[in-house]
Amino acid sequence: MRIGEHLVVDTPVLLAPMAAVTDLPFRTVCEEFGVGFTITEFLSAHALSVGDPKTTGKLTASLGGRKFGVQIFGREESMMEDAARLAVKIGASLVDINMGCPAKRVVAGECGSALMREPAIAQTLVRAVVRAVPANVPVTVKHRAGWNQDNLNAPEFALALVEAGAKMITVHGRTRTQGFSGKSDPNIIKLVRDALPSHIPVVGNGDVISIDDYLRMRETTGCDAVMIGRGALGNPWLFARLKEVASGRPDPGPPGLEERLTVFRRHVELIETLKGGPRTLHEVRKACAWYARGLYGCNALRLRVWETPDLAGARALVEEYFAQLIERQSRLGLEPEMRDSKTESDGVFSSGDDQAA
Ligand SMILES: Cc1cc2nc3c(=O)[nH]c(=O)nc-3n(C[C@H](O)[C@H](O)[C@H](O)COP(=O)(O)O)c2cc1C
Repeated sequence: MRIGEHLVVDTPVLLAPMAAVTDLPFRTVCEEFGVGFTITEFLSAHALSVGDPKTTGKLTASLGGRKFGVQIFGREESMMEDAARLAVKIGASLVDINMGCPAKRVVAGECGSALMREPAIAQTLVRAVVRAVPANVPVTVKHRAGWNQDNLNAPEFALALVEAGAKMITVHGRTRTQGFSGKSDPNIIKLVRDALPSHIPVVGNGDVISIDDYLRMRETTGCDAVMIGRGALGNPWLFARLKEVASGRPDPGPPGLEERLTVFRRHVELIETLKGGPRTLHEVRKACAWYARGLYGCNALRLRVWETPDLAGARALVEEYFAQLIERQSRLGLEPEMRDSKTESDGVFSSGDDQAA
């Protein structure tokens, strides 16, 4: 997939920006598993432009010179320009503007999905950011289906953004009022694809957690790539599997328990080395829950990890948990679980408590 004239993404699968989730350690793990492209979580243009340390700390380049994008939000042209320049300064290959966030505090500031009600302002923001970045850095937008069911304006909105200079559109097929409830609607993504010129890639987003979901999204909407958020939590293998499938090769299948434990250790190592500080234990606890999600007894593990006051204790609990699962697997002669299938909660390792994790 080509975004603008200069940016080529080999695998048409993107990691969705997710606040407090897609930090550098998580993006790195997904990149190591072959995701096509990653984007930072949304960063306030205002906070970046005034040099707020908490926000600038999240403005991180991918490791190893890998290409990455930065997502910004706001509604003041000058601040959006400043933020975009900062993104370019750290090497971003793309600047994405968030016009889909449904959160009350964001919408109250007339940012995020609120901009879907003001296409003219949205256009001025795209134009401002395009002006602020070099010609080889495409400006892209991620938005929703519309404000609510009575205002499903994604196709016209996307076209207006492209006219203002956006080089790629990502559509999450829910409305702002839906938040994360109900289902993401593939029909609206198809309508956006149909409305835009063919050289502008459209990325379909929403509820893709398996290979079948990916194939269905591509087929029913005609989208050029798929963006995956929640389905990647503790499941970066989905990217490795999709990379193969998207290239016409066979699906390598889900990971075994040892592999899952190895990647958990890698993720924790990245959290410790790249982040550190007082939030480390909190971040490691989240990783414990993600990598055990869907497995037998995951809920009990999560509760125990949350009660453990230190890192070494949390790590030891996860090691012990996986050792017991591996022993159980060999004793009962069970197959590796199918984490990413629609029947994940019926999998042989599921205790039925995976939904809570
Ligand atoms: C915890 C969380 C944080 C999110 N933060 C962002 C964000 O910073 N920027 C953004 O554009 N979307 C954000 N989203 C929305 C996701 O990018 C994505 O559109 C949504 O989760 C639907 O995709 P999925 O079903 O694959 O998760 C967030 C979603 C979640 C669950």
